Amino acid sequence: MPTDPRDALRAWFLGPRAENAELLERLVVESLRDHVFWRRNYHPEDGFAIRETDKRQEGYEENVATLTQELMGLLAELKRDVPFFSGRYKGHMVGEQTIASQIGYFATMLYNPNNIALEISPVTTRLEVEVAGQLARMIGYDPSRSWGHLTSGGTIANFEALWLARSVRYLAVAAAGAAAELGIELPVRLPGGTTASISELSLWELLNVGNDDTLDLWDRLWGTAPHADVQRTLTNHSLAAIGYQEYSRRLAMDYGDPLPAGVVLVAATAHYSWEKIVRALGIGSNQLVHLPLDQSYRMDPEALWQRVNGLARRRDPILALVSVCGTTEESAVDRLDQVLEVRARAERELGITFHVHSDACYGGYAAAVTRRADGSRRTAAEIRKSVGDDWPADDWVRAVEALGQADSVTVDPHKMGYVPYSAGAILVRDGRTRHLVATDPPYLSPVELPAPGTERFLGRYILEGSKPGAAAAAVWLSHKVLPLDERGYGYLIERTVAGARRFHAALATADLSPFLAVMLPLPDINIVCYLLSHPSLATLRAVNDFNERVYTRMSLARTDGPPEYIITRTRLRSPAYDGAIDPILALLAVGSGDEWKASGAEGLVVLRSTIMDPFLAAPAPAPDHVNGFVGALRRACADALEEGAGAGDPRSIS
Ligand SMILES: Cc1ncc(COP(=O)(O)O)c(C=O)c1O
Repeated sequence: MPTDPRDALRAWFLGPRAENAELLERLVVESLRDHVFWRRNYHPEDGFAIRETDKRQEGYEENVATLTQELMGLLAELKRDVPFFSGRYKGHMVGEQTIASQIGYFATMLYNPNNIALEISPVTTRLEVEVAGQLARMIGYDPSRSWGHLTSGGTIANFEALWLARSVRYLAVAAAGAAAELGIELPVRLPGGTTASISELSLWELLNVGNDDTLDLWDRLWGTAPHADVQRTLTNHSLAAIGYQEYSRRLAMDYGDPLPAGVVLVAATAHYSWEKIVRALGIGSNQLVHLPLDQSYRMDPEALWQRVNGLARRRDPILALVSVCGTTEESAVDRLDQVLEVRARAERELGITFHVHSDACYGGYAAAVTRRADGSRRTAAEIRKSVGDDWPADDWVRAVEALGQADSVTVDPHKMGYVPYSAGAILVRDGRTRHLVATDPPYLSPVELPAPGTERFLGRYILEGSKPGAAAAAVWLSHKVLPLDERGYGYLIERTVAGARRFHAALATADLSPFLAVMLPLPDINIVCYLLSHPSLATLRAVNDFNERVYTRMSLARTDGPPEYIITRTRLRSPAYDGAIDPILALLAVGSGDEWKASGAEGLVVLRSTIMDPFLAAPAPAPDHVNGFVGALRRACADALEEGAGAGDPRSIS
């Protein structure tokens, strides 16, 4: 009989009061003992390095005492850490970890495998490849064509996505150079559907060959000459080998056309890591173009089309477009299906194309909601029935289903996968892409291009080197216990969405008088944003100061005792949020659009609660952390108002 996730949920976590402590303890002891047996039985003929008599030596005992004492100190220190497990934690995008992932990590950590290569992680490299296949299937990739791996987190996963995207974008240019050197002609399919010979293409056209066509072209190139010659001539013309400075000079000479600065389009809500990434890749932050939002904090597809049109007219190549599935601030899900339609239109009407990446670092696991146990898709109506609410909208489901058509997707197990840090993941729709960034160190023997799923040497294709096999085991075991469909992660995330909606409704309707909670729209997933107002707060600055004080009282920034509840805050800034801000400013009844536009880096302070607590939707019989939160918020508001008045801050309380 299949497990009912409503019952299983209570076995998935240690629990806010460590209710499942016995279970976890049993598994920890089991894992440790099993590891001990392994050591004892590994070449039992090898004598002992540490004898019982050694343990009686003074130095030994002293060391054990130091270790024990220092550990006690560390354990005491850790009590000041952040209680992610508690229903009182409504802060950043992190919650409990599943018991499966904790024990998977702990058990494997004792073996310490390094997933850089199979020869030092024969078990966990395989698990990592398996996990990548599971995530690929969940988002809608064909696991036999796609490729992916775990990273230390979303930043590195996104970095790799853009690194790969850029490698594909410039590949046709390298192939044209290689073909000329080799004296061969190759047909190339252009975005409009016509075919031309590679030597006839302009630089602009080469930079606008579609990803699949570029990789097909590259495949064909290998068949035209001995591999060593193809390799050498490609390298002679590759950006990776030559570097931007010299590359631009050469292309300007060869094509009589200076290499236009390629841009990266991102949603205005993009995580700040994208700024780091374009800097680190040498693309430059000036080339990072933020796209306007609609009133639901999603990338505006019409504004995207206008921008793409403008760039095409100026002949600025688009290296990649980054759409978000689960924005950092609001958990908004861009309508990726519409974004992909814009690209298809650009191909048809403008003859240009670009890599589409979805940064689903936060929201990627929500794709599990759309999957039945047999892997088929659930309808939006089916999901709504199970959630018992009007979530998700049909177009949410279309957007999530579209992940399978993005060229690359990043999904972080250490966010909504509820596994310990550090575990991000990158997935690419066409696994051939990875060979474009492959590097072979002499000390880890290279292998022939392996078939998908038989990877032996991840380090060859990835930015990082040594990496924890324990992280792969943690994700793998968690996926075994909570499958990536409606029985596991799908159900878990549904519960958090139901909790977030309950929380949103409670704040929207709470009598906080004389304060007023101004709510951002219902979230696409489970991050609720709001801010507090009071009739005496007449300016944007005053509202910001007040909310900052509320935040201080409800966060670890509080210095006069532990906060009752823990939240986070962020700032919405102009111009990124111009498209979404008007309804909020109207509800706040402060300032004017001009004040908002002039607010610069200060923007609008918004309080933010990530609801990863699966028990919030239907608390029983323990404390109800929705009602508890409303009471705490009322007290924090009163204190903040008093504090502002006491400080005599003329900007804050009039
Ligand atoms: C949408 C999004 N992308 C990327 C990242 C970066 O992830 P990490 O902190 O794991 O590097 C975050 C982190 O919050 C995020 O929200």
